[in-house]
Amino acid sequence: FRKKHQQEKENTTSRSPTTEHVATYYRQLASSDRKQQIAFVQLTEEDVQQLASIRPLFAKHVERIVDAFYDQVGQMPHLRKIIDHHSTIDRLKQTLRAYLMDMVSGEIGDQYVIRRKVIGNVHNRIGLFPEWYLGAYAIIQNEVLHILMEELHPTEATAVYRSFNKLCSFDMQIAIE
Ligand code: HEM
Repeated sequence: FRKKHQQEKENTTSRSPTTEHVATYYRQLASSDRKQQIAFVQLTEEDVQQLASIRPLFAKHVERIVDAFYDQVGQMPHLRKIIDHHSTIDRLKQTLRAYLMDMVSGEIGDQYVIRRKVIGNVHNRIGLFPEWYLGAYAIIQNEVLHILMEELHPTEATAVYRSFNKLCSFDMQIAIE
């Protein structure tokens, strides 16, 4: 039983989803009222497939991204105040980890958009201004670039990084609208 349980756990956390699975979700977006936005940031089904394919790599390094993020955010006194008022860095590390793994889940469809909308609303409610919310993506993107350059051939790393940035832009669009 333990072995089966372990396998299931690995399947959901680190294995890449199938091409068909990714396509099913992407089709939802391509036929929704988000289609102009995905066209604008040029997020294609191939981008989502590419991101899904690096899911195991992301699972391996997600801690690094999350640590870099909160090291940097925590250094800004007014941001630190917002965090201490509403949550804790430990708890937020968990939510950011889940957020990042969602980006490489291959499940970029209607529910993904709703999840992003909720996250945008949460930050609005706590009084985090968009310039800080959007600026924080630079921390994530820098760390992701480091990881990709360490793990992949530069050509592949560049391609994945472009896909990742497109999805970041899409997430930003949803969060601040
Ligand atoms: C909550 C992601 C920037 C402070 C959250 C949640 C996620 C998230 C996924 C959980 C939302 C939920 O409960 O459903 C992100 C991302 C960011 C970002 C992707 C930018 C790239 C920031 C920054 C701060 C911050 C710069 C600094 C103050 C908080 C706080 C909460 C929160 C305090 C908890 C709010 C509450 O539960 O009342 N964030 N965050 N976030 N975030 Fe962020």
